[in-house]
Amino acid sequence: MKNICVIGSGYVGLVTGTCFADLGNNVVTVDIDEKKISKLKQGIMPIYEPGLEELVQRNVRAGRLNFTTSYEEGLKDAEFVFICVGTPSAVDGEADLKYVRSAAQSIAQHMKHPLIVINKSTVPVGTGDWTAEIIQKSQPNPIKFSVVSCPEFLREGSAMTDFMSPDRTVFGSTDREAAEAVAGLYAPLKAPIVITDIRTAEMIKYASNAFLATRISFINEISIICERLGADVMEVARGMGIDKRIGPHFLQAGVGYGGSCFPKDVKALANMALTHGMHPQLLNAVMEINDFQRKHVILKIRDLLGGSLEGKTVGLLGLAFKPNTDDVRDAPALTIARSIMNQGGKVKAYDPVAMENVAEELKGIILCQNPYEVAEDVDVLVLVTEWNEFKQLDMKRVLGSMKQPFLVDARNMYDGEKMRGIGFTYRSIGRGYDGAGVNAIPANGLPAIPAEKGAE
Ligand code: UGA
Repeated sequence: MKNICVIGSGYVGLVTGTCFADLGNNVVTVDIDEKKISKLKQGIMPIYEPGLEELVQRNVRAGRLNFTTSYEEGLKDAEFVFICVGTPSAVDGEADLKYVRSAAQSIAQHMKHPLIVINKSTVPVGTGDWTAEIIQKSQPNPIKFSVVSCPEFLREGSAMTDFMSPDRTVFGSTDREAAEAVAGLYAPLKAPIVITDIRTAEMIKYASNAFLATRISFINEISIICERLGADVMEVARGMGIDKRIGPHFLQAGVGYGGSCFPKDVKALANMALTHGMHPQLLNAVMEINDFQRKHVILKIRDLLGGSLEGKTVGLLGLAFKPNTDDVRDAPALTIARSIMNQGGKVKAYDPVAMENVAEELKGIILCQNPYEVAEDVDVLVLVTEWNEFKQLDMKRVLGSMKQPFLVDARNMYDGEKMRGIGFTYRSIGRGYDGAGVNAIPANGLPAIPAEKGAE
């Protein structure tokens, strides 16, 4: 049993703290947001994450997990302090480190005994050294501490399982003993361990996310070529993925990646390269393809409607950037909804858990109680997020209530032949067996989309 303090109660902080408590440690989570902490104390979660609420409540009841707004209280008995604060993108794509800076300063000001400070937030290479410098400068009296970088690889929607069964754990530090001590906290997980220097650990995180984003953009580019050449990208991905050197994961073509990680991290890595005099050609292409993928879906909708969205209504199934989360940060659905509204169309939508977040983000969107209500009187229905509950809808009923029979499956979730059999005019992504001429947007140049006001 160790005493652990976690700074930040966002996705990473909350999951890290709760899972460490569940492993039998004493954890105090500190957040400066009083509202959030008071809700957490009552067992109310600030985010939707399967399994989290139950685990938080169980560990609070067992007295192993506590929440506070006070650094003093959080650090009182702590041997390890995890920094898990947000690192949003600044205007130029660089990661904004103001929250990391303020956490480091607060730790320095309140620490009363030696500490191991662990950075879990995704931070630019070199931030570990910078954090150590800030702590040193901000300490009223010198007290020994070490900084360890321990990047997090968990995914929203499966965060608890990802934490408890990671593919690997990475620890980077100039102080090998400190890195080994942090590795000891993860020992019960029995995952392969990489101990390295601090900058390499920070780079492993960026390179991993950028590589996964690259795979997605790669298969999305292939999907566009498939559409033109009459091949099926789903089968192509399956055929590729069986090769052990390639593997099957992150080869699902669709509407492009979104969320709070890939878009921000690829941009930040490209920015790091740029500021050091390099031209990040591949990363730039990954981002360009990802932007295009959202436009590609909008073009499909427009194409079905004869080129104009003026006065038309589009229904969106799913708003979260992926299933099993209420996160709508950089969600493709929002880009699509904004673009439709900017082009004079109306948008109706339903998402099992993300609607509250969208209502705050996007004025003018019509939020519905269920998928069937979305379908009523719409000209086009678009499947944007592949939630399980959309998989077995009564599609005859859906079709029956629509104004026009147009279905765009932006995640290739439905069986095209079946949908056409029911009577839909069906479009998907890169499934050339639909007939290149049917599914593909015109080969003779893409029609321009009017500039998006207030787009992400
Ligand atoms: C991602 C990484 O997978 C985690 O390892 C990492 O810890 C996390 O970022 C982070 O840096 O914090 P996450 O953003 O939760 O996790 O979601 P993913 O499941 O990776 O999906 C990201 C996006 O890619 C989603 O929009 C998803 O729909 C899209 N995607 C994913 C595809 O379009 N195709 C695929 O084949 C896979």
